[in-house]
Parts: sequence; C-alpha cells; structure tokens
Amino acid sequence: MKLTRADRILKVNHAGEHGAVNIYRAQRLVSFWRDAELKRELEEFRAHEERHRAIFAAELARRGVRRCRSYWLCGLGGYVLGLVTGICGRASIAAVTVAVERVVLRHLEMQLRELKGVDDAAYAAVAAILEDERMHHDRAAQEPNQGIFWPRLIRPAVSAATEFVIWTGMRL
Ligand SMILES: [Fe+2]
Ligand SMILES: [Fe+2]
Repeated sequence: MKLTRADRILKVNHAGEHGAVNIYRAQRLVSFWRDAELKRELEEFRAHEERHRAIFAAELARRGVRRCRSYWLCGLGGYVLGLVTGICGRASIAAVTVAVERVVLRHLEMQLRELKGVDDAAYAAVAAILEDERMHHDRAAQEPNQGIFWPRLIRPAVSAATEFVIWTGMRL
C-alpha cells in the first residue's frame, strides 16, 4: 500500500505519542518519594499523551494504515529517558518536556500547514493535540528550578533525538 504524506504524519505522531506516554509513565514510576504536585502533573500529562495516542491510533485504523515500525523503539526510548531523568528530579524532568515539546510544536505547526485543505481528517487529528502540547511546554518552562546543568545537557540531546525519530519515522 502506498502511503500518503498525511498517513506518514499520522504514523510518526502515533509513535511519538507512545514515546511521550512512556516518558511520563517512567518518570512517575521513579518519582514515588517526590512531592504530590509533581506526581499529579506527571499523571495528568501522561493521560493527555494517552488521549493523543488514541486519536492517532483511531485515525490510522480508519485508514487501514499500520503503526510505524519505530513504534516499539519510541516506547522503549521514551521509557529509558523517563527513568533516567525521573530519578534526577524536577529540573531534568522539566528540561525533557521543554526540549521535546519545542521540537514537537514546530513539527505540528509545519504538519498543519501541509495538511490544510489536503486532508481534513489528518488535519483535525493534529489540531486536536496542539493545545495540550503547548500547555506541557509552557508549564515545564515555568519550572522555577531549571538548574544549569540539565538544560545544557538534556536539551540538545533530547532535541536531536526527537528530530531523529521524526525524520526516520517519515521515511519508514
Ligand atoms: Fe502528545
Ligand atoms: Fe506532550
């Protein structure tokens, strides 16, 4: 089956949301001794990411398009990243969210420009998650304890990894 650009966008986003679910799940898992507010936020964000994943899964199913081959790898990568950064605490958790969402938001906006008037269902799926992602970014960016070390280490590495996932996913 020949995939359209819209199919590929949906596939990549679906895999990416799976990665995001796993980042928050793992961060929450290792945050058991941290404050209740952080734990609540991680659970809330994870619920959003699960909803996003379900939106893309439903649209892929409707089209009869299979999930991305990178799906499980995204999940695993997200989980490992979540474990490591969750152990390190608030500053590293916030740095991951800011780094991921910056790249994600840029791509979502490009996707919306590309899909507008071309594929209404795919456009609607992407548009449905945009506000949540913006909120995740903004809340993480407001974290008062950003640290000096974490943003410098995590942002470039996580940005590059996120770009790589999107780039390869579009080609799989
Ligand atoms: Fe998401
Ligand atoms: Fe998000």
